[in-house]
Formats: sequence, structure tokens, C-alpha cells
Amino acid sequence: MDEQRYLTFALGKGRLAKKTLELFEKIGITCEEMQDPNTRKLIFVNEELKLRFFLSKGPDVPTYVEYGAADIGIVGKDTILEEGRNIYEVLDLGFGKCRMCICGPKSAEELLKHHEQIRVATKYPAIARDYFYNQKHQTVEIIKLNGSIELAPIVGLSEVICDIVETGSTLRENGLVVLEEVCPLSARMVVNQVSMKMENERITALIKGLKEVLEAER
Ligand code: PRP
Repeated sequence: MDEQRYLTFALGKGRLAKKTLELFEKIGITCEEMQDPNTRKLIFVNEELKLRFFLSKGPDVPTYVEYGAADIGIVGKDTILEEGRNIYEVLDLGFGKCRMCICGPKSAEELLKHHEQIRVATKYPAIARDYFYNQKHQTVEIIKLNGSIELAPIVGLSEVICDIVETGSTLRENGLVVLEEVCPLSARMVVNQVSMKMENERITALIKGLKEVLEAER
């Protein structure tokens, strides 16, 4: 029999990666070296199972997966939508749940209702563009920011924002509200299109195992 090749996983750095490893542990996939909080290593190997894991910035995960540098990626639905890569989304992992929303001061409600040409600040210009242009048919000006998006309507850069809302406390503490919901979000598993064919058996077994754990937890 042919020697098994490594299956490579790209995980978005931070909370998602931690949750992912906890979930993988439940189906017997572990990666000891990755648990060391002081390590500066970028790639981790489980020799026995022929698996490799690496951590990257969330928005880079779909890129690694599309090009096949990773067979599988774990990333937020927000990133999948924003990056628009040619990859298969195969599983909702159910954690990292939050919502993409249009938010602003309560007074901005009228501007949205009357399809005024407003400014929308966001870290997700593709999602905002799709929502306003393709779904709402409203012409807006989209302004790309890189973080602390809630600042924009407060200091007068934009009328509204398109951003992630999890607990809602950032909005509350800054006098903003959810005006419209764009879509629900959570962590997803994505797969390279060629890997899905070439490594179908291993990947399908992995998805099946994860599904069983997720269903048992529901
Ligand atoms: C995200 C998001 C909101 C906040 C929502 O920001 O952009 O600002 O979390 O969470 P909440 O509803 O629980 O308050 P993040 O902390 O990722 O930082 P950023 O501002 O740099 O995007």
C-alpha cells in the first residue's frame, strides 16, 4: 500500500484554533506540541496520524486552502464570505457563533429605510457590498477600516457600520444598536477542492466523526 501523505490543516489563530483543537481531541486527534503556549513554532505534526497543523491569520486560511497548501481549514463564516475563495464549505462547527449586522445610532434607522446614500464603515467590504447592492438594492459608500469599527459613526466617519456582533456589549457601551441583520456566523470547516477528491476517504471519515460529536453535544 502507498505511504499515506500528510493531511494539512490551517487554523485561524486565536480562540477558533483553541476550540478546534478541543473538538478534534474528542475524535482522537491530538497535537501535543501545539499546546505549549510559549512555542514559536509555526507548524505542528502528528506523525502517527499523518496530520500537520499550522496557525495563520484568519483571512489567510481560505487562501491556503484554495491553493492546496492546506487540505482543510477552520475559519469563520465571515472570512469565507469576505474572501470569496474557491473552496468547499463542508461543516458548521457550531462554535464562534455571532451575527454580521448593520449597526449605528437609532437615528440611522430612517436613513436605511429611505435608501439614503449613506456611508458604511466596515472591515468586511465584500460582505457589505453584497448586502447593500445585491440584496437591498441600495447605493452606499463603503469605507474599509481595520478594527474598532464602532468608532466610525461616533466620530462622524460614517452613518452606519457593517460588523460582527457577539454579545452586543461593544455596541451598548458606545450607544449604538443593531439596525439590520445581514447573516448568522460561526466557525466552519473548509476543504480544498482537489483534496476532497484525492483524499476523499480520510476527509469524509473526519467529517463524519466530527458530525457525530457535534450532534451528541446538541
Ligand atoms: C469584534 C467586532 C466587534 C466586537 C463585537 O471586534 O468587530 O467590535 O468584537 O463583540 P461584542 O458584541 O461581544 O461586543 P474584535 O474584538 O474582534 O476587534 P476589532 O475591533 O479589532 O475588530
